Amino acid sequence: MTQPNVFVTRRIPDQGLAMIRQACAVTLWEDELPPPYNVLRAEAARADGLLTLLSDRVDAPLLESAPRLKVVSQMAVGFDNIDLAAATARGIPVGHTPGVLTETTADLAFALLMAAARRLPEAERFVHAGKWRTWGPMLLLGQDIHGATLGIVGMGRIGLAVARRAQGFGMRIIYYSRRESDEARALGAEYLPLDEVFAQADFISLHTPLTPETYHLIDDRAFALMKPTAILINTARGGVIDPDALYRALSTGKIAAAALDVTEPEPIPPDSPLLTLDNCLIVPHIGSASVATRTRIAVMAAENLLAGLRGERLPHCANPQVYGQE
Ligand code: DGY
Repeated sequence: MTQPNVFVTRRIPDQGLAMIRQACAVTLWEDELPPPYNVLRAEAARADGLLTLLSDRVDAPLLESAPRLKVVSQMAVGFDNIDLAAATARGIPVGHTPGVLTETTADLAFALLMAAARRLPEAERFVHAGKWRTWGPMLLLGQDIHGATLGIVGMGRIGLAVARRAQGFGMRIIYYSRRESDEARALGAEYLPLDEVFAQADFISLHTPLTPETYHLIDDRAFALMKPTAILINTARGGVIDPDALYRALSTGKIAAAALDVTEPEPIPPDSPLLTLDNCLIVPHIGSASVATRTRIAVMAAENLLAGLRGERLPHCANPQVYGQE
């Protein structure tokens, strides 16, 4: 029996790749960088299944020129790189990996919050530069986390996991989300209008997907509402923040600091002015980057892919409408 053709757009953890290799003829893109769009499109044109990452653009022209394609399996929870409507219109289910990376991403959000609050990257640079000459009463003063107010924007799974961590630190938690959440209420979090969250929070952590409504949600207007001592954390998607407005806010003291796992664009260009700022901590989209979690994500993506190739319902489908239900 001929095996389905599958294009895997990067080397993924072995456990997931082995599952796919067992059942499919795999073309693996071995490069560290994503395949160029024209390569992805050419591979998609002869593929029965695609395993994609968030750096791969899967748009309508690509889907239209892929007559055999039965499934797109995204190895990520987010799928803003995929034209979901176009996939649905062509009857192609899109898999994604919700849930498995919640706690790991929340860990990183909290790590960024703490690192920015206590100025850890600056402190480390200071020591490495040989500048530590004595204990300084005014040296590298940061902000307290305990007792501070954390504002969460987007109270989904990851937002809630961050709130649980904040509870352990004795923080007051306020949040804005599309709707009020019982789970958030059970954690003692207070639901407020978005502008109030901006105005009252000492730390603002973003956990909203990137949609037309959330694109550049954090702009000059939002920064103007924030406290000058506020620290902004983004482990969601770079496009939720207007990077020019962020630079203005950080460089003019409208807010105190930012800690970003995601940027717009990604990767951040080496000449981005944000990289010149001491109060802007940036890491390269490593929210889910633990060995255990990335392995689980790869297995889940393989399960979605294989189910789609067998014509079965995907265990985790981003466009269930494809099965004729909302
Ligand atoms: C996702 O899965 O969407 C994350 O951003 C990747 O870590």
